[in-house]
Amino acid sequence: MSSYGATISGVGYYAPPGVLTNQDLEKLVDTSDEWITQRTGMKRRHIIAPDGVTSDLAVPAAKAALEAAGKSAADIDCIICATATPDYPFPALACIVASRLEVAGTPAFDVAIACSGFIYAMTTAASFVRSGVFKSVLVIGAETLSKITDYTDRTTCTLFGDGAGAAVVERAEEDCFLGCDLGADGSDPTLLYMPGGGSRFPYNRNGELADQRLGYIKMQGQSVFKFAVNQMAASTRTALERAGLATTDIDVVVPHQANLRIVDATMKMLGVAPEKCIVNIAEYGNTSAASIPIALAEGVEQGLIKKDDVVVMVAFGGGLSWGSIVWRWKGAKVGRPKAGSAAAVAGATP
Ligand code: ACO
Repeated sequence: MSSYGATISGVGYYAPPGVLTNQDLEKLVDTSDEWITQRTGMKRRHIIAPDGVTSDLAVPAAKAALEAAGKSAADIDCIICATATPDYPFPALACIVASRLEVAGTPAFDVAIACSGFIYAMTTAASFVRSGVFKSVLVIGAETLSKITDYTDRTTCTLFGDGAGAAVVERAEEDCFLGCDLGADGSDPTLLYMPGGGSRFPYNRNGELADQRLGYIKMQGQSVFKFAVNQMAASTRTALERAGLATTDIDVVVPHQANLRIVDATMKMLGVAPEKCIVNIAEYGNTSAASIPIALAEGVEQGLIKKDDVVVMVAFGGGLSWGSIVWRWKGAKVGRPKAGSAAAVAGATP
């Protein structure tokens, strides 16, 4: 039983203007537009400028969501950032975002569970609000995956992009957080990981990191693919069951945008019509923790999510991890960042 209701009251997103196309990638590795399109559904990814950092994306996305919610940063009780690519290993990205929003002192922390991060962060935010700990929480998914993508490895470099999305979760009379399912299995972290920079391969160890290219995403693509297809559908069913709903009650699915084939297979397994699914993978590629909030905000912008819709957000990613949340949509608006509000500038230069 919850003490209070929680609702999403505003969403926003921001992607850097620099774009890396499939044709650009053809010049970097042995690949083709045809292969990438057929195997992934991707055409372009937005890439931050070399001197840009993740908070440059998180801040404009956050401001857009706040504006849509009719709030200022000072109204927010807690900031949670989901990211695998913070500005620094520590402090948390959320601390830097709070400072850049001029609300230093607000509780702020990161959720680090790769592509499932936004789902975990939204569940945490809803739990804070429903239990009465906080009245309003700003949740941001923000990534600069181009910084950890190996542009000499064709098996991964076509997949990833940069961007940020945000949502304001706040107390409401009606509880719109209907159900969730979270999970993780770390028995083989090497399926999808960045080896360098942690305690196993610390930065300060004699150049090993650079020599062995340990500061880049490594992935066993086929294993992750199989896991994703099964887990996305299973997790969605579990979250719906906990909400007392069935797949036939779904109005909109906002899936993690990792691969169009994974999304299509998930929708087929759920028996949900493809028109109910928000897909923007051709434009952004996989932006990890940012992919769901960007797709959510674009879905609202395009009128694809309507008042009282049952909206399922579902993700999988490094961990391996997975998560699904079910919300009743109450007509939250989407904000767009003001021109020139980000430090990022044009020009993709991986
Ligand atoms: N261009 C051309 N050929 C390629 C490329 C490329 N970019 N990449 C791989 N190939 C080749 C392979 O070498 C292989 O050739 P071979 O048959 O001669 O050995 C062939 O294409 C098939 O390779 P597969 O790996 O079997 O291709 P698959 O259809 O599985 O697609 C992909 C690969 C797109 C990576 C897919 O496995 C996938 O999407 N996996 C899931 C990835 C994912 O969602 N990861 C989540 C990351 S999110 C996070 O937490 C950061």
